[in-house]
Amino acid sequence: MYSIADRQELTKRDMVSLTIEAPQIARKIVPGQFVVVRVNETGERVPLTVAYKDVAAGTITIIFQVVGKSTAMLASLGVGDAIKDLCGPLGAPGTFDKVGTVVGIGGGSGIAVLHHLLLGHRDAGNRVLGIIGAREKDLLILVDEMLGVCDKLMITTDDGSWGMHGKVTDAFKALVERQVHVDLVIAVGPLVMMRSVTEMTRIYRIPTEVSLNPIMVDGTGMCGGCRCTVGGKTKFACVDGPHFDAFEVDFDELIKRNQMYGRDERTSLLTSITAQ
Ligand code: NAD
Ligand code: FES
Repeated sequence: MYSIADRQELTKRDMVSLTIEAPQIARKIVPGQFVVVRVNETGERVPLTVAYKDVAAGTITIIFQVVGKSTAMLASLGVGDAIKDLCGPLGAPGTFDKVGTVVGIGGGSGIAVLHHLLLGHRDAGNRVLGIIGAREKDLLILVDEMLGVCDKLMITTDDGSWGMHGKVTDAFKALVERQVHVDLVIAVGPLVMMRSVTEMTRIYRIPTEVSLNPIMVDGTGMCGGCRCTVGGKTKFACVDGPHFDAFEVDFDELIKRNQMYGRDERTSLLTSITAQ
């Protein structure tokens, strides 16, 4: 069993941060890797990326949005409660080379994943610029943490309630048009956002990495649930990724696959709420 050491509500819209006592995982995990959580004996396996770790305290912090029954169960846990199973670290570790200027672009809950990755790029000696966006001010997460890791941070909201009025891609375009030299872009967020970023960076010829979050079941390369096409070949995001060269990813196929279970997820959430 893994005890919850801290719980925070990050936004008014079901974004929760749980800090879990897991000293062995905290010691081993590197930015970009994830864990699979099972709340209880009958719970399904939920893959969640780790936003940060505290090796001294022996904890990891996961940040997630309540989208279905399992994430709702996880969000209902409080300090002192325990999670049945926690498996990790899983996924290929990210690579963090000194390349110069790295721009991290994060949308919505993807900002949690981006934050951990940018820590790795900063520690590798890079200049780190951040662009984070959400639909509105109340949905933005980890602003203080991103300010802590970025040399410069740009904020966007779709409704203009904080920072630049527009999407993260608008801020990125403004950055590039100011002739800022960029050596690497890391984009994490909704697939449509990562596809839009990639369409731009392809034109600007800036190497780009994305962190994919397809449907995952076992998280260990056995079920095929997380398959995606990268460079014309089938890859399993849980073992070959989740980080890939953005220019190689077939985003259209992945968007279609990820939409397949959206209705089921909403139904399971509604059923669990009705049953309470
Ligand atoms: P959202 O739809 O509110 O979008 C967040 C921001 O992304 C927007 O404010 C905008 O700036 C940008 N964006 C969205 N669509 C865009 C487009 N077409 N072009 C340019 N920019 C665009 O995001 P949300 O509701 O918080 O959803 C989060 C999504 O992120 C979910 O789909 C979730 O599956 C995904 N996610 C991905 C990862 C990952 O590892 N890739 C991790 C966590 C969450
Ligand atoms: Fe099963 Fe990746 S989640 S193969």
